Amino acid sequence: MADIQNGGFCSRNPLELFEQVTTQGEKVRSLKAEKAPKDDIEAAVKLLLSLKLSYKTATGQEYKAGSPPTNFTPVSNGPGDGEDEDFVDPWTVQTSNAKGVDYDKLIVRFGSSKIDKDLINRIERVTGHKPHHFLRRGIFFSHRDMNQVLDAYENKKPFYLYTGRGPSSEAMHVGHLIPFIFTKWLQEIFNVPLVIQLTDDEKYLWKDLTVEKAYQYAIENIKDIIACGFDINKTFIFSDLQYLGTSPEFYKNIIKVQKHVTFNQVKGIFGFTDSDCIGKISFPAIQAAPAFCTSFPQIFNNKKDIQCLIPCAIDQDPYFRMTRDVAPRIGYAKPALMHSVFFPALQGAQTKMSASDPNSSIFLTDTPKQIKTKINKHAFSGGKDTVEEHRKYGGNCDVDVSYMYLTFFLEDDDKLEQIKQAYTSGALLTGELKKALIETLQPLIATHQQRRKQVTDEMVKEFMTPRKLAFSY
Ligand code: TYM
Repeated sequence: MADIQNGGFCSRNPLELFEQVTTQGEKVRSLKAEKAPKDDIEAAVKLLLSLKLSYKTATGQEYKAGSPPTNFTPVSNGPGDGEDEDFVDPWTVQTSNAKGVDYDKLIVRFGSSKIDKDLINRIERVTGHKPHHFLRRGIFFSHRDMNQVLDAYENKKPFYLYTGRGPSSEAMHVGHLIPFIFTKWLQEIFNVPLVIQLTDDEKYLWKDLTVEKAYQYAIENIKDIIACGFDINKTFIFSDLQYLGTSPEFYKNIIKVQKHVTFNQVKGIFGFTDSDCIGKISFPAIQAAPAFCTSFPQIFNNKKDIQCLIPCAIDQDPYFRMTRDVAPRIGYAKPALMHSVFFPALQGAQTKMSASDPNSSIFLTDTPKQIKTKINKHAFSGGKDTVEEHRKYGGNCDVDVSYMYLTFFLEDDDKLEQIKQAYTSGALLTGELKKALIETLQPLIATHQQRRKQVTDEMVKEFMTPRKLAFSY
């Protein structure tokens, strides 16, 4: 297994550990069969024993070949013993820290890897493109197996992108744009197919919505997604409520996942309880299936070995930890991931942005006036109480929401740095910082609305038609 060979990484996740022990056991057997040098065999046996010990520590069970762990405590979404821990799962992002979630700690807890300078440089070297400001500024901060994707790309092996949206309301907020903006950039620099899943079924199960309403929201959200500028020849967008019933291959992958994940496991990963409806309990398999290329025979010509890369915010990771656990057991490669941080609510990084609270964020439907009023009235400020104090002591960019928003949307690095210096020194006042944000967001949202107006029903239909894309396999 690549993780072990590349420097002895040992997973904290019981299912991954199970696979690591199995692979290492096979390696020891084949070394012995080949009559390999004694030192090599001894080193391999030593690693096997230490993996078995880690497995026992993680699961409380002895490793038994062919019997994956069924009753274990999976990676915690938080909070653990420490009261300052953050909680992150697909439904809740919670922190008590005004600076926001401690993402470095989350990397350790989730067992992912940091997107460091080396990886960013490699992406630049391999693609010949300047890294996106989301990478340069640590907004996409964590990954799983991204080096594998780059190895494949360098060896001219294909991969594809998969991302999604749960259509809980007609209007999306600016936070939802983050993964789509980044995915579009990835698609352009790597020139690969993209599939976008609209989990209208998920929103029907979790929210007080009818099936019809959830589907209608999916269509409205698809218009916003198309307005981000995706290439119609390279992108397939689908609603679960519509596509699932038409695709036997997709359904086969869903039930393969369902057969290999126990109720105990999803309870541990997602916090389901005995009173959750069975739709919720089986839903994670539906979000997992697009990570396997065979779910899209029309695009990948029934190929089985095309790797998937999933850009998303870190809240979606529990779905894909489960997907990665199960993938090798049903004969597929594990999807790679790139995670972004969470875009904060206007009221501050401790408050959750909510589609049902129009003042908690800027929505893609907001008018210039609404944007101005919301920012002036609600954006949490890191400035001091009086102008005199602010001039004397300066503002705090670490907790100032207007500054945080600018790091996402102001592309000019020099200008951003100037703003930071001026605000920190007290030369720039809160009102002036808010004005800079208003002037950045108003044209951005207006342009988005213009592009959305140009999205026709025919375009939506074409994006949603299962078809071959501009790639041959
Ligand atoms: P949803 O609709 O909650 O979110 C859609 C995408 O936006 C990200 N996101 C955010 N990113 C930054 N800041 C925020 N405040 C913020 N809020 C949401 C989410 O991480 C997600 O990438 N179940 C999923 C839909 C889905 C999906 C996928 C997402 C299906 N397949 C594959 C990502 C990848 C959902 O409800 O996303």
